[in-house]
Amino acid sequence: MKALTVQPLTAGSARLEDVDEPPQSDGTVLVQGLAVGVCGTDMEIVSGAYGWAPPGRDRLVLGHESLGRVVEAPAGASVAAGDLVVGIVRLPDPVPCGNCAVGEWDFCHNGQYTEHGIKSHDGYCSERYRLHPEYAVKIDPGLGALGVLMEPTSVVAKAWEQVDRIGGRAHWDPQTVVVTGAGPIGLLAAMIGVERGLDVHVFDQVEAGTKPDLVHALGATYHTGRIEHSCPHPDIVIECTGVASLVFDAMEHLAAGGVACLTGVSSGKHALKVDASMLNRSMVLENQAVVGSVNANHRHYQAAAESLMKADRSWISKLVTRRVPLEHWADALARQPDDVKVVIEVGT
Ligand code: BGC
Repeated sequence: MKALTVQPLTAGSARLEDVDEPPQSDGTVLVQGLAVGVCGTDMEIVSGAYGWAPPGRDRLVLGHESLGRVVEAPAGASVAAGDLVVGIVRLPDPVPCGNCAVGEWDFCHNGQYTEHGIKSHDGYCSERYRLHPEYAVKIDPGLGALGVLMEPTSVVAKAWEQVDRIGGRAHWDPQTVVVTGAGPIGLLAAMIGVERGLDVHVFDQVEAGTKPDLVHALGATYHTGRIEHSCPHPDIVIECTGVASLVFDAMEHLAAGGVACLTGVSSGKHALKVDASMLNRSMVLENQAVVGSVNANHRHYQAAAESLMKADRSWISKLVTRRVPLEHWADALARQPDDVKVVIEVGT
């Protein structure tokens, strides 16, 4: 069968090739791959900056934002032949640590977790793959092809859960949220903010085009300048770029008691001068909190499904700006200026 593979930490090594059928040991649910979303992590892997091949192998099947159709599943499983499914990305570490032991693998403590398409486990950009039933999330058929947005939405749903839990440490009645970055993660974070009735402000660099249009269509406000100029003191910041200057801007301008959740991963290449003493002062005197958030567990996939079902279908469909057939995978990996979410179509 065909799969898009890469040799991790080797730039330019991605290729479409014939690979073996997925082994039974990957799970009892056989899935036909339909679509895979491309995200910044995939770009990093393809550029040679991130990723791990499965043990004993050089190459990794790419893709962690999946949508597939079940071909066969054991009787009594939570999914059955014909169902649309999304595969959970992270698998618990084998020890397992306390968090993995209770299904909170997104908080794995020892780093020995694996991730489909990212870390030591083949991904979903292949014609067929197998899942363990407990890692196959059934998609409402009404969502159809948009089910491919489930994984990035789960990441954002977890970020919102972090904000809620930290905000809930005292009386918490947030009004304003700043989202930095109008890529898929930022737009989905904004979507959840609007669903919650918050006053949502999205910051990005582009002056015009799909991103500002999508923000306006959501009923949120789009900005290109500095946070302090157009939306000082938000109660919540969801940072979705990993750009160091924006991260610190977000931290500096939080309201008293505010929560900033960081979801973007910085490149680690840009040093920044920060007034750490002032930052410490305001964080302490104003009870501000900054939290990092990665990955998602079952609870977050369920929350993501609810948010996507609640959202305006025509709005979420506009997040997918390009669909590229598997044979043209290289086009999907070449960023175009107006891209939001690019999807590789593996099957129909
Ligand atoms: C994925 C997460 C994953 C993270 C780190 C993200 O792109 O959506 O599921 O945990 O990368 O590998």
